[in-house]
Amino acid sequence: MDPRAFSRTAAPAAALALLVLVGGTGCTGGDTGVRGTPGAVGLRDPYFPKLGNGGYDVRHYDLTLDYDPAGDRLKGTAEITARATQDLSAFHLDLRGMTVEGATVDGVKAAANRAGGELTVRPRDDIDKGAEFRTVIRYSGTPETIIGPDKSEEGWLPTEDGGLAVGEPTGSSAWFPGNHHPSDKATYDIEVTVPKGLKAVSNGELTGERTSGGRTTFAWHEAQPMASYLATLAVGDFRVTSSRTPAGLPVLTAVDPAVAKDSAALLGRIPEVMEWGAKNFGPYPFSSTGAIVVPTDEVGYALETQSRPVFPVDQFDEETLVHEIAHQWFGNSVSPASWQDVWLNESFATYAEWLWMEDVHGTPVRKPFDAAFADDANWAFPPADPPGEEDLFGGPVYQRGAMVLHKVRQAVGDETFFSVVRGWAAKYGHSNATTDDFVTYVEVETGQDLTELWDVWLYGDKKPARP
Ligand code: ARG
Ligand code: ZN
Repeated sequence: MDPRAFSRTAAPAAALALLVLVGGTGCTGGDTGVRGTPGAVGLRDPYFPKLGNGGYDVRHYDLTLDYDPAGDRLKGTAEITARATQDLSAFHLDLRGMTVEGATVDGVKAAANRAGGELTVRPRDDIDKGAEFRTVIRYSGTPETIIGPDKSEEGWLPTEDGGLAVGEPTGSSAWFPGNHHPSDKATYDIEVTVPKGLKAVSNGELTGERTSGGRTTFAWHEAQPMASYLATLAVGDFRVTSSRTPAGLPVLTAVDPAVAKDSAALLGRIPEVMEWGAKNFGPYPFSSTGAIVVPTDEVGYALETQSRPVFPVDQFDEETLVHEIAHQWFGNSVSPASWQDVWLNESFATYAEWLWMEDVHGTPVRKPFDAAFADDANWAFPPADPPGEEDLFGGPVYQRGAMVLHKVRQAVGDETFFSVVRGWAAKYGHSNATTDDFVTYVEVETGQDLTELWDVWLYGDKKPARP
């Protein structure tokens, strides 16, 4: 899908000029006219410059995977449909570890080269700008667990009887090749074969299940655009239940039997949280919902994987459920244009918890606001400017981000605030947004100049006097 420009992160003109030079637009090739050039190695994300790739826009991923838990081996075929945004002589995909066994472009064998987390595919013929093309990558190996910049584990996490894929911010490149930047969203088909008796649970809807020769294949379809960090796969012994919300939306939950008893009551409340979310944020953006609950030692945090968030059981509580469901609107549907904009995800998800406590339990938002305000750790840096990638999920991004939203609510009043929240989710739904988009949207919609509010609460370096 179309990536948006990073408005606050444009590369200096000199760097751009250099890229153009390296790209070598000068050469022409015989009667084919201007020859294609290689797509950029990364999208110059301020935190992960090599993440994602230039020169094309992915439309759809068709992943066919086979996982063998005993050997912790994954065999995959990734069929990627994309549109070229320039004349391409070669293009990059992000892939960590694994062995690439072959690549084709539009059915013709293509050269594939690896260097670090980059896979370069060079088709026999150049791809014309605007053309839709299909590349197929066959790969296998033991997928890696990546230790993220904040020391948390992501990528592929092997479990006692299977494995779990969690990808925020960069872990999805451990289990499939792709354009792993949140600005390039795409739809997905994920088909996974596992030993009979185990389940494979992923995003969206289950469209098929078949068993033969002692192996079971599960086919999942995610029909709405998804950033790759939100793709998940949980393989193991799961209790799967399907139901519907009162509004008719499919609910599919998967629970490790060891934690089934402890999570049953809260799983039953998903429809209530969904309904509350739709009331506050507008129509739910996806075609199913649910949850995946696993033992605490399998993953250290909950993650808002699209339509089906993942929870370690010790964090499967009411507020975290509200947080991850709120992310479906904020983060998953309205996605960050770059990782610098991640506060737009976490501020709304955190503020949703505060709102829920107010609405459902009568705890005024003032209470969590004051607690967040009092904690100096939340003032370490401005929400939209984490100093390093290890700070992307730090207190200021969540708590101070939520404080920014509360200040907006106080400035414009409840009625306007909730209409702005719903309008934001609608306008940028199934798309990407920057911090500037947000600031502009709020000011245009409310007709108010909130410069001082942004200066102090969103961008300021110092903690203001207690309001
Ligand atoms: N987005 C997740 C949440 O707020 C947290 C992800 C944490 N990831 C990490 N690499 N630290 O629920
Ligand atoms: Zn979150």
